[in-house]
Amino acid sequence: MRVDAAVARSTNAAQTGIPSYLERVYWWAYVHPKAVYVFERQWLVNLILWGNFGRLRDRAIELLSPGIGGKTLQIACVYGDLTGRLAAQVPETGQLDVVDILPVQLDNLQRKLPAGHRVGAIHGNSAHLDVADGAYDQALLFFLLHEQPEDVRRATLSEALRVVRPGGRLVIVDYHQPKKTHPLRWLMRQVLTHLEPFAMDLWHRPIEDWLPPGHRAKVLSHSLSFGGLYQVYDIQVG
Ligand SMILES: C[S@@+](CC[C@H](N)C(=O)[O-])C[C@H]1O[C@@H](n2cnc3c(N)ncnc32)[C@H](O)[C@@H]1O
Repeated sequence: MRVDAAVARSTNAAQTGIPSYLERVYWWAYVHPKAVYVFERQWLVNLILWGNFGRLRDRAIELLSPGIGGKTLQIACVYGDLTGRLAAQVPETGQLDVVDILPVQLDNLQRKLPAGHRVGAIHGNSAHLDVADGAYDQALLFFLLHEQPEDVRRATLSEALRVVRPGGRLVIVDYHQPKKTHPLRWLMRQVLTHLEPFAMDLWHRPIEDWLPPGHRAKVLSHSLSFGGLYQVYDIQVG
């Protein structure tokens, strides 16, 4: 369910309960009441991405082309100004919704967007979206997949392809295995292995591996940046 400029709270607890991996692995980043206070800082999210937040944010927005209107779904909140920048480019004829499983993150989103914004906030699970098939023209997954266990990642990708209309776009920005000589390779391996245990999957396998069997999506472009540590997919939904 979507409500303009307010958080739509679903009553379906089976689909909106906090997933165990979030509580177990990411409590400190998203679930804990102080998480938003600590992490909602532009300089910090930029530091976590080694100064690449702005470049990756702008690349995602460029691929989504929000200026041409249509309906865009951002799947999961992101600390920093990604949603604000995306929303600023959505014309009157367009629509931007953000879905997240944590009310605390959706509340934070409401607070950081400018007064009078038109961004819809949806309380829901990326793995079971309460959204009709083909309801959106495009969707964005910005650093979500590496935080999810494989079964949830598969379900999220399947749902993203389902809710975007045929011919629409799915843009994915996430981690990737950096080149062997990357100066941060050893450090990032330690950080991800210990703090973000599912993230190493993205070092070892392409995201295509988790798309649903028989999908008709087409990868229009796949680019690496910052020595291969980050990747961006532009996918046309079939
Ligand atoms: C997009 S990811 C990571 C973004 C990035 N690391 C940042 O700087 O914010 C973080 C968000 O994903 C949300 N999330 C995680 N699993 C989810 C799921 N199954 N469904 C919906 N939202 C989910 C979390 O609640 C959190 O707000």
